[in-house]
Amino acid sequence: MAIKQHAHWTSRWAFLLAAVGSAVGLGNIWKFPYEAGEGGGGAFVLIYLFFVFFIGVPVLITELSLGRRGQSSTVESMLNIIGEEGKPRFWVIIGWFGVIGAFLVLSFYSVIGGWTLAYIVKALGGFTGLGADDIAAQFNEFLANPIELSLWHAAFMALTIFIVARGVNQGLEKAVTFLMPALFSIMVVLVLYAAVAGAFLETLDFLFIPDFSALNAEVILQAMGQSFFSLSLGLGSIMIYGSYLDRKINIGQSALTIAAADSGVALMAGLAIFPIVFAYGLEPSGGPGLLFTTLPIAFGQMPFGPLIGALFFALLAVAAITSSISLLEPVVAYLNETRGIERIRSSIIGGSAIFLLGLLTVLSFNALSGVTFFKGTLFDNLDFLTNNILMPMSGMLMAVFVGWIIKRQSMIEELAMESHFFALWYFLIRFVSPVAIGLVMLELIFDIF
Ligand code: PHE
Repeated sequence: MAIKQHAHWTSRWAFLLAAVGSAVGLGNIWKFPYEAGEGGGGAFVLIYLFFVFFIGVPVLITELSLGRRGQSSTVESMLNIIGEEGKPRFWVIIGWFGVIGAFLVLSFYSVIGGWTLAYIVKALGGFTGLGADDIAAQFNEFLANPIELSLWHAAFMALTIFIVARGVNQGLEKAVTFLMPALFSIMVVLVLYAAVAGAFLETLDFLFIPDFSALNAEVILQAMGQSFFSLSLGLGSIMIYGSYLDRKINIGQSALTIAAADSGVALMAGLAIFPIVFAYGLEPSGGPGLLFTTLPIAFGQMPFGPLIGALFFALLAVAAITSSISLLEPVVAYLNETRGIERIRSSIIGGSAIFLLGLLTVLSFNALSGVTFFKGTLFDNLDFLTNNILMPMSGMLMAVFVGWIIKRQSMIEELAMESHFFALWYFLIRFVSPVAIGLVMLELIFDIF
């Protein structure tokens, strides 16, 4: 039997691009603006940033180091660490949360990824001459067609499978190295366009002057969920990326870089989208359709609109793909390293199963849109369950495990941080993260019952 060799990133740069690629995705460009819009703007942004840096970054550091210490699939990594530390098997649940959570999230992530692909084509056809109403109608028609949605969902999943099947270095790493810089450049162009052509001052006001009257428990929970989602926490993606990380690399610094890049892109997405929303008198609380019903208006009017529009949606698709590969990876690593199924087969099996589950999300927008309970459609519930329950819970378990269960010395070794940074992180992860997450979850429980 061949010796099992766990892959490693070829450089720190490759790792950072992959991790930022995972973090920056639909969460930043599609979800953040509409959640900020629904949550009243500035107050949401402030709370969101607080969660990112005080809860998210410490958990990000924790998840990366669990992965690097475990050196295998998320389940096996946890078993390795538990074995090494002589701790109860219960904690392997963190590894399972990774595999199952990633499976669930990718099922709907890929459907939205499909929208972005479809909109590349629609943008090329041009939105010229269409008013805000026509564009909204076009989007609604698109959502009403389950066949069209399923085909795009299939295409998106196929791309994801193709990249992941090629492996960590030939697949994931190659994909992110040239896609991420391109994404960033286009964001800059769109923000500049919005600054010139849209209601920029109103946007600055909306995003950066907090109106605390818009805050309530729901919004705070949403902001925390979003900070976890945006940083890719609690779903095994970061843990598996950490497992491919070289010992020489400083995890603390990397985590800060990832969080800064991630929130930077989220804010830029807000700066690109809201000026257009306000300039055309649209509602910032437009929900999931916000991006698909606002930017096309601008693309319909600007010079080279079809080209820039197509490019924008292409890059949005790219952002989504560099995230979706990080969602398929924990599932594939599990099938491959823990179940011994060959990598290409693992990718196809895992990806196809996720595709099938995704059909429920597809139908949530049309045939099953009338089936609503608790938080809304099947999709709304899946989104809520993963985003606001599974991810924070998994984050809390990781914080408790690392802060209270395993030896402090193991973490000192793993992180090799300067002692006062270590002390700060250790304090945050032992006390602040679990308590903050716990409080927000408690709110949630009250809310439900
Ligand atoms: N962070 C990604 C985004 O913002 C989504 C994601 C979540 C990816 C969890 C991997 C794991 O779009």
